[in-house]
Amino acid sequence: MNKILILGATGLLGSTLVPYLKAGHHNIVTQARKKGTADFTFDVDDWDTTCEFLTQIEPTIIVNLVGLTSVEICQQQAHAGYLANTRTVENLARWINQSFAPCHLIQISTDQVYDGDGPHTENNVTLTNNYALTKYAGEIAAAQVKSTILRTNFVGRSKVNYRESLTDWVYTSLINSRNVQVLTDVVFSPLSMNTLVEMIELVIRNKPVGVYNLGSSDGMSKADFDFEFAEKLGLPVNTMFRIDSSEVTFLHAYRPKDMRMDCSKFEKLFGIKLPRLSDEIKKSAEDYYEKS
Ligand SMILES: NC(=O)c1ccc[n+]([C@@H]2O[C@H](COP(=O)([O-])OP(=O)(O)OC[C@H]3O[C@@H](n4cnc5c(N)ncnc54)[C@H](OP(=O)(O)O)[C@@H]3O)[C@@H](O)[C@H]2O)c1
Repeated sequence: MNKILILGATGLLGSTLVPYLKAGHHNIVTQARKKGTADFTFDVDDWDTTCEFLTQIEPTIIVNLVGLTSVEICQQQAHAGYLANTRTVENLARWINQSFAPCHLIQISTDQVYDGDGPHTENNVTLTNNYALTKYAGEIAAAQVKSTILRTNFVGRSKVNYRESLTDWVYTSLINSRNVQVLTDVVFSPLSMNTLVEMIELVIRNKPVGVYNLGSSDGMSKADFDFEFAEKLGLPVNTMFRIDSSEVTFLHAYRPKDMRMDCSKFEKLFGIKLPRLSDEIKKSAEDYYEKS
């Protein structure tokens, strides 16, 4: 049986992935940086401790969710972005290579590596900010070993109160009558976390090698997404306003306008059809029903 090490297990995606895989009776070991929240506590950007722990754990699959996901912080503190998004993956690949471990790496990357008109195929990378640059450098490190690199984006209800998703932000803002500015000219194609963890399990079972886009089969603007999500939950939208990104004053780092992904490579590999974004909004909204 595979021994699956989830790195960054207590973050937004990890908090949905870990219980899902445990419910599926996988042999799971978890890592976090904060004490007491996972089986192992260590910094993956430190080579010595990473090497020591991996040698002790002997995983046959590593799912790497570690990352510094703030586009703003990565832009202002390039080295912090490098440590979390690149050096961590360099350390994992170095351990797998040096120890000749029979270990498959599943690296979670991002749709931010695209810009220009989508939907983008995997070879259409355009890097426009430090977050994208450091995540792409992480992909290059992951490709040095047997790995699956999943470029993705995701939405849905967070299971941890210290980490808010896009849909959490919209939900909390609207029920508290706070103003929400939503972008009409930024398009994306995320999956719900509930679907994404099912797809990650598929990858765990099959260990394909290569880079794959993994998102919904179509896309929409963030503004349309937010309104459709609010509508599914019957939330009041009188405080939600459509704006163009040129009018935004609260974001400083450049963000791509069209991050839609062509996921046909992943679909062909597994002989599946990925869901439409409207289906994923519905699925994500269901997680909030009990809160409404
Ligand atoms: N969130 C999104 O919308 C999104 C979209 C596309 C792709 N992704 C990618 O998906 C992955 C998971 O994202 P997420 O939103 O779940 O991230 P998250 O909530 O920020 O969790 C990241 C985890 O990484 C840990 N971490 C950071 N630096 C570390 C280090 N040097 N050593 C060990 N652990 C470290 C954090 O631990 P501490 O809490 O202890 O710092 C945290 O548990 C990331 O790789 C991200 O780039 C995310």
